[in-house]
Amino acid sequence: MKVISIFSEKGGVGKTTITTNLGVCLAKKDYKTLIIDMDPQGHVGKLLGIEPIKRRILDVLKTGNIMQDEIIRKTRLEKLFIIPSDWSLADFTVNVARDPARHLKLKILVSKIKDMFDIILIDSPPSLELITLNILLASEGVIIPVALTYLGLVGAASTLKIISQTKKAFNYAPGIIAFVPNLYDETPYTKELLEKLRAKLGKFVSKTVIYKDPEIDKSQSYSTTVVELSPESKSAKAFENLVDEIILKIGI
Ligand SMILES: Nc1ncnc2c1ncn2[C@@H]1O[C@H](COP(=O)(O)OP(=O)(O)OP(=O)(O)O)[C@@H](O)[C@H]1O
Ligand SMILES: [Mg+2]
Repeated sequence: MKVISIFSEKGGVGKTTITTNLGVCLAKKDYKTLIIDMDPQGHVGKLLGIEPIKRRILDVLKTGNIMQDEIIRKTRLEKLFIIPSDWSLADFTVNVARDPARHLKLKILVSKIKDMFDIILIDSPPSLELITLNILLASEGVIIPVALTYLGLVGAASTLKIISQTKKAFNYAPGIIAFVPNLYDETPYTKELLEKLRAKLGKFVSKTVIYKDPEIDKSQSYSTTVVELSPESKSAKAFENLVDEIILKIGI
C-alpha cells in the first residue's frame, strides 16, 4: 500500500495539516515522498512555500501528459516532492465531462509516476463529486481525520458511507488505514467523544491522538509545518507517533 489519501467529506478537520506533517515526517525518515494536492484551495503549496503554475494540475489530469519536471516540484526537504494545485482544479468536472475515463484521471496520472516514489499522499477537498471519486479510485488506502466535535463524528460516519457506496458502485474501495482523532483538548467532553469513536470504530482508530495546539496555526502562518517549527510541541510529537503507526500498518 503506497498511494494513500487523507480523506474526509467534512471541511476543516485537519486533512491538509495531517498530509503536510506526515509528508515532512516521512521525508525526514528517508522515504521518497510525493504529496498530490487535489484541493483547488492549493493549501499544500502554500504550507510548503511552493507557488503553483496556473492550470498545470488541471491540464496534466486532463491530458495524462506528465511533463515530469514541471508538474512534480522539489521542496526544501530533499526527499519531499509535491504536485501543487490551484483554483483551476475547481473546473475539473466540466473539463473532463465528455471523457469516458473521467473518474480514473488521477489513477492514470498516479500509475505513471508511482514507481518514482516510496509513498504518495493525496490531500482531498472537503466535497463530494468527481474529484472525490477520482481520489478514492486512485488510492490504495485512506486516512480519515476526525475532528473531536459532535459534527466531526457525524462527518466520519458519512465519510465511511461514501467509501462503502463507492465499493458498491465501482467494486473497488481503498482500505481504511486509520481514523485519526484531531483537535483533542483533554476536556471531559472531547474525552467522551474520543471514547465514543473508539467504541464505534475500535481498531480502526489510531492510537495517536492529535492535540489542539496553537503551534499548528503558527507554523502554517510561516509557510511551514509544526514538525519543523516546533518539534518539541505536543502536536509535533503526535505526528511523529502517527507516522510510525502508519508505516507499521502499511508495511513500507
Ligand atoms: N490539531 C490542531 N490544533 C490546532 N489547530 C488545528 C489542528 N488541526 C488543524 N488545525 C487548524 O484548523 C484549520 C483547518 O485545518 P486544515 O486546513 O488542515 O483542515 P482541512 O480538513 O484540510 O480543511 P479543508 O476541508 O478546508 O481542506 C487550520 O487553520 C489549521 O491550522
Ligand atoms: Mg485542506
